[in-house]
Amino acid sequence: MTGHFITLEGGEGSGKSTQMRFLEQKLNANGHEVVLTREPGGSPGAEAVRHVLLSGAAERFGSEMEALLFAAARADHVDQVIRPALQDGKVVISDRFFDSTRVYQGASGKAGDELLQTLEKLACFDVWPQLTIILDIDPETGLSRVTRRLDGKGAPDRFEKDDLEQQEIRRAAYLAIAEKEPERCIVIDANRSEDDVAEDIWQAVIARLPELAAKPSRKKPAQARSSRTAADVKAEAVGTTTRKKRSGSSRKEDVGSAAKKPAARRRSRKDEPGDKA
Ligand SMILES: Nc1ncnc2c1ncn2[C@@H]1O[C@H](COP(=O)(O)OP(=O)(O)OP(=O)(O)O)[C@@H](O)[C@H]1O
Ligand SMILES: [Mg+2]
Repeated sequence: MTGHFITLEGGEGSGKSTQMRFLEQKLNANGHEVVLTREPGGSPGAEAVRHVLLSGAAERFGSEMEALLFAAARADHVDQVIRPALQDGKVVISDRFFDSTRVYQGASGKAGDELLQTLEKLACFDVWPQLTIILDIDPETGLSRVTRRLDGKGAPDRFEKDDLEQQEIRRAAYLAIAEKEPERCIVIDANRSEDDVAEDIWQAVIARLPELAAKPSRKKPAQARSSRTAADVKAEAVGTTTRKKRSGSSRKEDVGSAAKKPAARRRSRKDEPGDKA
């Protein structure tokens, strides 16, 4: 896959949706095609599950049930939208991805690590974020931004309704993920102006994925990539070594075993009627 996959994470009102649009502009200005997407949702199948999750309809069945629903939605999102865009050489930016499940259903819920890791492998298959930007915000500031945004229009969703204590637990969980997976994650102080946050995000993106600072080559992506050194490629494969730490298997191994076993599944997914978002 020749594209790049970036995820934006953080608590309520941390600025994910705002910042993904700034990042899109920067990337477009550098000649990259960008696909903006979000979770839960991002594909028609996943958007159908989004309503069940955000309305709170699944809440009473517990966080394990919620985690399973998020994984089902994620599998569809990956298959229908993210993987095809990456295969096309695009930059995919997702507003939330699996870290949100780790944080919301794991750290501030009851879903265990083993279940979450299994679900991640099922849903993501061979697609893992190269860079995850964690917008770190004081929960009170974040919630006050959300309240201002709602401004009498609509009600807070299932997760925005949770109290400050829960939001603090989630903030700490995000920071713990970043500490555990420094190659994949970067924490940005989101308690500042939109412009300051956007500038820090851009600097982080071009530091971690320097090829995004340049105009894409007109050559076929595969040829362009072959001009890079093995060390370049290794440096870009962020998230790999830390997965090893977390799950006991490297990303390379994950991809390898995925390539061996579930080829039939990949084919059958491909054969499904296209419902690209
Ligand atoms: N740096 C900032 N300073 C002040 N207000 C901001 C900043 N960034 C975003 N906002 C405003 O705060 C509100 C929440 O921002 P945004 O929707 O981008 O956050 P979010 O992380 O996507 O929230 P949610 O988790 O609820 O989806 C919006 O009204 C947005 O305009
Ligand atoms: Mg948002």
